This record gives sequence, C-alpha cells and structure tokens, in this order.
Amino acid sequence: MTQRAAFWNALATLVTLGLIFFLIDPAGRAPDGARFLARQHPALVHLPIGFLLFAGLVALGRWWRKDDQPGGVEQTALLLGGWGGVAAAAAGSWLMQMGGYPTDVMFWHRAFGLIIPLAAAGIVLINAKGGTPLVKAASWGLLLIGVLVGGHAGGELTHGKAFSTEYAPGILKPVLGEAPSLDTRFDLSRPDSSTVYEVLVAPILGAKCTSCHGEGRTKGGLDLTTPEAIAAHETDTEDDPLITWGASDASLLIQRVMLPVEHRRAMPPVPESAPLSHADVELLRWWVDSASGFDGTIASADMPGSIRTILQAYGMSEIKTGVFALNVTAPDTALVSNLSTAGLRLSRISMDQPFFDLVCESASCLRAEGIDDLAPNIISVDFAGTDLADADLALLQRFPHVTSLDLSRTGINGRGLEVLSGLAYLARINLYGTRVDDALLDVLASFPALEAVYLWETDVTAEGVARLRDALPDTEINDGRS
Ligand code: HEC
Repeated sequence: MTQRAAFWNALATLVTLGLIFFLIDPAGRAPDGARFLARQHPALVHLPIGFLLFAGLVALGRWWRKDDQPGGVEQTALLLGGWGGVAAAAAGSWLMQMGGYPTDVMFWHRAFGLIIPLAAAGIVLINAKGGTPLVKAASWGLLLIGVLVGGHAGGELTHGKAFSTEYAPGILKPVLGEAPSLDTRFDLSRPDSSTVYEVLVAPILGAKCTSCHGEGRTKGGLDLTTPEAIAAHETDTEDDPLITWGASDASLLIQRVMLPVEHRRAMPPVPESAPLSHADVELLRWWVDSASGFDGTIASADMPGSIRTILQAYGMSEIKTGVFALNVTAPDTALVSNLSTAGLRLSRISMDQPFFDLVCESASCLRAEGIDDLAPNIISVDFAGTDLADADLALLQRFPHVTSLDLSRTGINGRGLEVLSGLAYLARINLYGTRVDDALLDVLASFPALEAVYLWETDVTAEGVARLRDALPDTEINDGRS
C-alpha cells in the first residue's frame, strides 16, 4: 500500500468516526431504519477484532524474524479490521440510542471502542511510511488497550459486571477486582409465607446495626436483635417513637437511617460503618409504612412498584395470591379423562398449577362418579342454561376452591344459596336471567370474597341493588341498569 493511500485511509477513518461521534446523539432517538443494524452491533464487533488479532499475529511473526517490511496480508487485515470497527461504531451508537445501558460503563466502552479503528488506521499508515520502533510499539499497544478495555466494558454492558472476570484464576483477582457476589442476604423464594421482618428487615439490621445495638452492646439503650426488644424500646420524650406503624417519617428508626451520612445522628454512624444502601433504606421504610409488624407476609403487604422492583432484583419469585397460593395436588390423569366423558367439560387453566375449569351440561354432573376427588382442583364452575335447581345448590359446597360460579339462565330463585357463603375464594357469581330476588341480597352480603355479582334480568329491584352496593362497597354489582 502506498503512503498516500494509507494517509487518505487514516483521514477517512478519522472523519467517519467524527461524523458518527458528533451526529449520533446518545440521547437521541434511533432512526427506524438503523434499528436492525444497531442490533447487529454485538456480531459486528467480533469480526474486526478477529482481523486485527490476525494482523497482530502476522506483525509479531515479522518482528520475530526481524523483518521490517509489512506485507499486503497484514495491511489488508488491518484495513478490514479498521473499517469493520467503523461499522461497529455506527451500529453501536444507534444501539446506545435505543437505551437501557449504564452510562458510566457505556462511556468507557464507547471511548475505547473508537480507539480501535483509529489505531488500526494509524498502524496502516506507519506500516506504509515507516516509523521508529517506539512509535510502532505504541500504536500496537494502543490497539491492544482499545480491544481489551473496550471489549471488557462491552461484556459488562451485556452480561453484567462480573462477566469477564468471573472465572478468572485466583491469582488475577486482585488485579481485576473481586467479582461482586449476588445478594444472598434475602431468601425470597416463598413471598406468600415469609414475613417482611424475618426475611428482609432482620438481615439488614443484623448486618448493619446489631454490632452496636445488641450482641452485648446496646448503644443508645437500643437492642435491635429481637422483635420483643424492638417493640419494647422506649425513646426519649423529645424523640418520636422507635416505630410508628404506617408512618415512617414519625419513626425514629427510619429518621436515623434517612439522615444524610455526614449528620452526627445518622445511622449507622459513618465512618465506623458503611452507610445503608438506598435499597435497604427503602425496604426498612416499606416495612414500617406497610405496617407489616413482625408477622405480616411479603405477599400480603401493600407493595409499591419501586419495592417490587427491588425485591425482584433480589430474586423474588412471582407472588401468588388467593387459590393460586395453595398447594393443591395434581389429580390422577385417568380420573380427569374418565370424568371428561361423563357430560362435563374440564379444562386445565394453568400449566404450572393443577387447576381446572368445569363446564356442566346438566345438574347431573354434580353427581358424576369421582367428581369429589377432583373437587379441590376446580376453581371455576359453569352451569349456564342448565336444569340446575335450588335443591342442587348444596352440592356446590364440595368445591372449596371455586372462585367463579356461573348460574345464569338456570331455574334457581336463590333459596338455599346461603350454603355457599362457606366458599372462601368465591369472587364472581353470575345470576343473570334467574328468578333470584331481593331476599337473596343479605345472603350475598355474607360471602367473604365477593368481587363481582351479575344480576341482569332478575327479580332484584333497583332499591335492592342500591342496598347491596351499600353493604358491599368494594364489590362490583352489575344489574344491567347502571
Ligand atoms: C458503630 C455503632 C453503631 C451502629 C453500627 C449503629 N448504631 Fe445506632 N446508635 C449508635 C450510638 C452510639 C447511638 C447513641 C447516640 C445517638 O443517639 O446518636 C445510637 C442510637 C441509635 C438510635 C436512637 C435510639 C434512641 O432511642 O435514642 C437509633 C434509632 C439507632 N441508633 C438506629 C440504628 C440503626 C437502624 C442502625 C443500623 C442501620 C444503627 N443504629 C447502627 C451506634 C451505632
């Protein structure tokens, strides 16, 4: 390659990178047409690195042989690597616009990524023009640093901090920095049975507070090791109580951890101890504000989105509520298929839990053989338009987990419906087109979990509906009139 061509190549590389750097604003919006290319960035970066590594090996061999004349193969590999790097830089800049990457790591990834094509073009020029050994070594060194640091930061962006150092041999760890281990303080595998105190609060207090408040020392007269000690603590009269459930700002415990670290009353005191993380402060605050006390479970506490995000980051599994929190055993498959031939339709409603919808074509399905064995697995029963009569209602008690009951267009008038008030999960009941009347309303008011009632075209009066709305303010009463 001539010196002239190498010079123009270097200039073109510089100008193109400059355009990419200044025209693609990180805070801008990636053009639709560029999004596909943007997503190819991870693939696009590896090819140029391959070419450059190859060029490096060729140059190394040359240096070994004391050969000072770079060949066409080396120059071509450098050109391909350099311009591949330019393409990767464009794709990467659009990817950056698509967002979601931590800005500090991104800064280093971008800066060192841009060095790569520049250094490659520089080496092409030096190869063509000649240069002192120092200049040559420096330009190759720059390229190597670009690849190592840029690549390391890129790995961190896509795979998290510890990606490239996780399996490093022990001897390298002090150099590379110890990989941060996943936060294992909290066991969030059973949010519906673990209490906020035991799973979240006690570990935070244990790690950050009890070295001074408990375990032999009770600074400020405060022991934070047990629920009893926490509940019994009396603060000075000029202070707020240690904990005011439902009001974290009126709780001394929260006030102290929320003080700026330099405040002399801030807890834990800095510099003796490291301050609490923002997430830990938020969790303590949530414990107090949600009034979870020492027995409230994670699943039962009111959970703002910010807390949910923190808990999910700590590995909380999906919270199951109502029947879905129950551990119901799966039925025998033979039983399910036998029943399915007996005038009733069963459909499994969830892959991971053995719950079924039951659709009956007649009231006789309540007497089908084996139905009792399946009853705990049935969470919705549909009798719409069947011959179901008031006398059959008592048989519905056998479905303890039913959440939804469709009795629409059946002949019932509602006498006997009170037996269903024992169904702890019954949330929706459809009585559309039946002869139920106002006498039923007091019965419905006694259902423990009712969320919605459908009463279109029944004998229930408008006054009756109004009365029911008063009795069940949180329940949706749907009578087709309003
Ligand atoms: C390095 C020791 C140390 C650590 C760790 C520490 N504290 Fe304290 N704490 C003290 C001292 C000393 C006092 C008494 C002086 C004061 O009130 O500032 C105190 C007082 C308190 C008080 C006031 C008690 C009262 O009734 O006046 C609260 C509340 C408190 N700490 C909460 C915490 C919490 C919560 C943590 C953990 C996040 C914590 N502290 C960690 C040393 C510590």
